[in-house]
Amino acid sequence: NLYNFRQIGPDTKIFGIIGKPVAHSKSPMLFNETFKSIGFNGVYVHFLVDDIVNFLHTYSSFDFAGFSCTIPHKEAAAKFCDWVDPVAKSIGAVNCIVRRDDGKFEGYNTDYVGAISAIEDKLRDPHSSSPQSGSPLSGKLFVVIGAGGAGKALAYGAKEKGAKVVIANRTYERAKELAVTIGVDAVTLADLDNFHPETNMILANTTSVGMQPKVDETPIPKHALKNYSLVFDAVYTPVMTRLLKEAEESGAKIVTGVEMFVGQAYEQYERFTGLPAPKELFRKILKI
Ligand code: ATR
Repeated sequence: NLYNFRQIGPDTKIFGIIGKPVAHSKSPMLFNETFKSIGFNGVYVHFLVDDIVNFLHTYSSFDFAGFSCTIPHKEAAAKFCDWVDPVAKSIGAVNCIVRRDDGKFEGYNTDYVGAISAIEDKLRDPHSSSPQSGSPLSGKLFVVIGAGGAGKALAYGAKEKGAKVVIANRTYERAKELAVTIGVDAVTLADLDNFHPETNMILANTTSVGMQPKVDETPIPKHALKNYSLVFDAVYTPVMTRLLKEAEESGAKIVTGVEMFVGQAYEQYERFTGLPAPKELFRKILKI
């Protein structure tokens, strides 16, 4: 049972995910289980919506506290919000809407925070006793494959952390356009086959290459992975993509798309509730 209806009353905070499709989302299960476990008076529901602006106007008299938004509404959400976080504004996509007490809507992008913080966590040495200042991404060469919404978010996020970003895309013009906007470099996807400017590079795949059912595909050949110390894949069906398997075999650390999902969920939870995310509980609920 997703919701405990007997506990819903006038003081219950209502959250939801707006998308199309939306039924597959794990967020309602994750948030409702968490609310139940920690005794937070909230409920989180699915909203299958065609037109997000119309939806938010129509239901603005309801006491909604916050929304997650997913495909295809992230760009429209960024335009709708009364205030948009500077990074979300640069990316042009909002996936987390918080309603303030005065009824105004604030927009954030937690997708990029989720991926970037999962990558940072994996790069930090858990055995180091000295406090680590700054981001472990600072000064690193960070290659982003893909120039769509997710590629844009990762490239902005990595640049914010002080990484030297290179965008690689099948269609070079698209990579170039994005790179010029952000102020980073662009190459073609084929260029990555022989791209070894330095060691300890980071690689992030933001394309759908390797996703079910085409699980034999990979965006970069295995021989080209040897100078990367960490590889991230936004694809999470399957969780272990061919790219991640080959990265592991090449000695790199890996970060899966599931880590990006849970990382962005921590961030949304904190924005929605004002409480620190119960990270261990989230991982237990998601069985990761
Ligand atoms: P999203 O917003 O989810 O990132 P998108 O805007 O459709 O999605 O972008 C998809 C990205 O995956 C693009 O960078 C696309 O490359 P092109 O710009 O050349 O189209 C990339 N992509 C999709 N399928 C691909 C494939 N089979 N091989 C290489 N790149 C692919």
